[in-house]
Amino acid sequence: MEPNKDSQNGDFSKENKIWSDDLQVGDPAIDNQHQEVFLLTQLLDQAVRNSSVIEKILTFLVTYTDEHFSDEEALMSRQSFEGIDEHKDAHELFRVMVIKLKNDYESSPEQASKLIFPIRKLIDEIIDHIIHVDYKLKALRQNEINPS
Ligand SMILES: [Fe+2]
Ligand SMILES: [Fe+2]
Repeated sequence: MEPNKDSQNGDFSKENKIWSDDLQVGDPAIDNQHQEVFLLTQLLDQAVRNSSVIEKILTFLVTYTDEHFSDEEALMSRQSFEGIDEHKDAHELFRVMVIKLKNDYESSPEQASKLIFPIRKLIDEIIDHIIHVDYKLKALRQNEINPS
């Protein structure tokens, strides 16, 4: 079967994203949190067979967007990062999207399978953010460890 085909029937075969150590920013807590997002793509595959996994993923994402983004924002504030406002705006957008999905789930849990694709889209966007935006934190973290 081709990837992404038949999404309406619950066949969810989009490729899983694989974590790479190249993405490490050097802060163990933040790096662990980033790896967890990659693992979510595998967990979401299970949601096709068991919709209770969707609730688990959404609960994880609510906590994640609260704690992880706060950790990154604290690192950026400590180091007076120039792009902090844009970075925080991106986080805020993710927070809003997660809350919306959680509310959608809670208002109609019997329709949970319809949320699989929007959740996957959100996870993919967070992964893109890790790859293309969060990598800038590496320099901050190095500065924190070895101030010049
Ligand atoms: Fe991040
Ligand atoms: Fe971030």
